Amino acid sequence: MDSDSGDKWSRKAPITDQRMDLKQSLGGIHIEGLKKRYGQGDTAVDALKDVHMSVGPGEVVGLVGPSGSGKSTLLKCLGAIIEPSAGRMTLGRDLIYDGGWRISDLRALRRDKIGFVFQAPYLIPFLDVTDNVALLPMLAGKPNSAAREQAMALLQALDVAHRAKAMPSQLSGGEQQRVAIARGLVNRPPVILADEPTAPLDSERALAVIRILNQMARQFDTAIIVVTHDEKIIPTFKRIYHIRDGVTYEEAGEGRGFD
Ligand SMILES: Nc1ncnc2c1ncn2[C@@H]1O[C@H](COP(=O)(O)OP(=O)(O)O)[C@@H](O)[C@H]1O
Ligand SMILES: [Mg+2]
Repeated sequence: MDSDSGDKWSRKAPITDQRMDLKQSLGGIHIEGLKKRYGQGDTAVDALKDVHMSVGPGEVVGLVGPSGSGKSTLLKCLGAIIEPSAGRMTLGRDLIYDGGWRISDLRALRRDKIGFVFQAPYLIPFLDVTDNVALLPMLAGKPNSAAREQAMALLQALDVAHRAKAMPSQLSGGEQQRVAIARGLVNRPPVILADEPTAPLDSERALAVIRILNQMARQFDTAIIVVTHDEKIIPTFKRIYHIRDGVTYEEAGEGRGFD
């Protein structure tokens, strides 16, 4: 519990203010001193105690930690699903949290700024592949035809356009995951939060998913956080944040396999 004790992950020196300013002006994800306490009094749980993260646009970072370390809590705070207790969060160019929410429409924030990619791709079983991806822009008010065109462009980029008319139940696991990624990306959110996106996949498909996330990050300037403990993909990250007992530690990764 004592984060000052000499353990294996020593905190790296903070990036300079200048670099922080530059990154912030370009977008991405910035978290400073984030805390989250569940409950109060004797039964309170401090799930996040001191979280610092910075993910630039076009960057994919890993978030790794044991069960109960705060990974889901952090993603839920970032995704504006639960409210943090203290700290600051910037998404894209907007300060969204600073000791309290700094924006009034959290639903619009979730819809327009954040793409979620979950472990099991929760595709809607009675919509075909195209409409699963087109649904979000349709809900955001885009005309159906424009939303479907946007969906098709992404399905092409993700190499599943040939399955555009298929129903989710007809897809392989790898195809479902790519459709789920397309859905997460379709509104071109500045931020993608992926929770164990490769867990059900074999080595080759897991690496293919990571390659696609890297390509998409670069192409759309998206900042991507991948929660994982998948040993197959951990070596692909250039930077990794470890989280233990609600405290993050940054580490250089191996960055193997991508440029
Ligand atoms: N809704 C909640 N109420 C109280 N405690 C919670 C709640 N959600 C998570 N926790 C606690 O917060 C800590 C971090 O949990 P979580 O973020 O789910 O970790 P991880 O995703 O890394 O497994 C754990 O001790 C967990 O029991
Ligand atoms: Mg979890």
